[in-house]
Amino acid sequence: MKSFDVVVIGAGPAGYIAAIRAAQLGLSTACIDQWKTPKGEYALGGTCLNVGCIPSKALLESSENYERVLHQFKAHGISASGVKFDLKTMLERKDRIVGKMTTGIAGLFKKNKVTWLPGHGQLVSGGTTWKIKIDSETVEATNVIIATGSKARHLPGIPVDNKLVCDNEGALAFDSVPERLGVIGAGVIGLELGSVWRRLGSKVKVLEALPTFLSLADDTVAQEAWKVFTRNQGLDIELEVQITKVSQSKKGIEIQYNTKDKSSKTFDCDRLIVSVGRVPNTDALGAENIGLKLDAKGFIEVDKNCRTALPRIYAVGDVVRGPMLAHKGEDEGVMVAEIIAGQHGHVNYDAIPWVIYTAPEIAWVGKTEQQLKSEGVAYKVGRFPFAYNGRALGREEPEGFIKILADAATDRILGVHAIGSLASELIAEAVVAMEFGASSEDIARICHAHPSMSEVMREAALAVDKRSLNG
Ligand code: FAD
Ligand code: NAI
Repeated sequence: MKSFDVVVIGAGPAGYIAAIRAAQLGLSTACIDQWKTPKGEYALGGTCLNVGCIPSKALLESSENYERVLHQFKAHGISASGVKFDLKTMLERKDRIVGKMTTGIAGLFKKNKVTWLPGHGQLVSGGTTWKIKIDSETVEATNVIIATGSKARHLPGIPVDNKLVCDNEGALAFDSVPERLGVIGAGVIGLELGSVWRRLGSKVKVLEALPTFLSLADDTVAQEAWKVFTRNQGLDIELEVQITKVSQSKKGIEIQYNTKDKSSKTFDCDRLIVSVGRVPNTDALGAENIGLKLDAKGFIEVDKNCRTALPRIYAVGDVVRGPMLAHKGEDEGVMVAEIIAGQHGHVNYDAIPWVIYTAPEIAWVGKTEQQLKSEGVAYKVGRFPFAYNGRALGREEPEGFIKILADAATDRILGVHAIGSLASELIAEAVVAMEFGASSEDIARICHAHPSMSEVMREAALAVDKRSLNG
């Protein structure tokens, strides 16, 4: 039987990064993954690389370029007629990027001497070492890192065929642009993929159960996003609905739902995306064989260092509590590998950025204003719009703002919220600042290049003390 210091189950961002870090630290490491491409070949990278972060961002970029040519170039004095796109080329480009990234991990495994064990991993027994069965082979491990990730949550009575009724997998591969697209769930996937198909020509209706829009984000950012997406971009979002029935007919898909005022309505569409959150992948993992505890929703229970209650078994990424974000899983993977190697790995859960890759982008780190209010924390607010920034105007991207929340007494930054072009990149400065326990005054005193979008961050920091220089 092959024996390893560390066996990682799952090669998504949490698992493959954990495996590489463990191998870098001199531990003999194997990584098991069951993912197969539509062609039936095993592939590394998990949800993120195959059907998540990477393909969605590729399509967001392509569709945004198309929309820019159609609508934004006019302001620059550039006109183009007969602008067309070829969906097949767009999808092939996305698939090429996915292929490059996933085969890249195979290369990284080779370079770092991580043994790749393709197949389904199941925990079978424990003792001084843990036994894991991969299809017909069994291996033993001193330490196990479970990184089995998550899958799309489906709704009862709404079967997903990934042709007409799709979760993220089908929604990233429509073979034609649906004339009318329905989306259930106005969360991150609904907004990102809804935007992709809207830009390519679909009439998109998003049906959301909650009465509030983007409740995770800061209220002021959510309000601005609502205005831009619904008023400026024509995304039709209806809140506080209750889906009662989804059926397929000759006309396509019929969605019946109750509205906020309890009347019933019907919406017909050609395709439907169901994006109502994700559930952990813990079925068929063999947790019950070794007495590994899951919570009521199927997540593996862990402490702040991703230790389970069993010795030398850890769990990281989407399969444990916390935001389902690739970089959160990666950081947990590094932490656990370092702890196994006797080092002091840690994750600062207070400084994990969120990004929603719509246009404008939405990004934040730390507390929202509504959280600070409910926690009774006294805070100051500094806010600055992109519309006053020369670079934003030059780029024809004046929408949105950056807002900094700082402790009223100490000025320490508690949260930074951005909606605007390149917010995904700009938020990095705020993450660094929060990691180093910076004050808004620190950002206000840092020299920022002119003209650059990053000046908005500095002006927002100056605004905390009511001393913006350009607005
Ligand atoms: P996963 O990526 O889900 O990987 C788990 C792996 O484990 C899979 O390959 C699975 O096949 C394998 N596995 C499961 N069980 C077993 C078993 N028993 N044996 C062997 N293998 C097993 N996050 C971001 O931070 N930024 C984004 O822009 C972003 N965009 C997204 C877009 C979409 C459409 C979706 C769906 C998600 C997106 N996410 C994004 C979320 C991100 O994909 C996840 O947070 C991330 O993939 C979680 O990583 P993970 O390693 O924990 O799990
Ligand atoms: P989500 O949790 O972001 O949003 C789901 C939405 O569906 C919520 O607003 C919820 O209220 C709504 N909903 C739930 N049940 C419903 C019902 N029966 N009817 C109508 N609405 C209903 O989940 P989503 O969009 O599926 O994405 C899953 C996760 O993947 C995200 O939470 C995020 O962690 C990750 N992700 C991250 C991205 C990024 O970082 N840019 C991009 C895409 C996904």
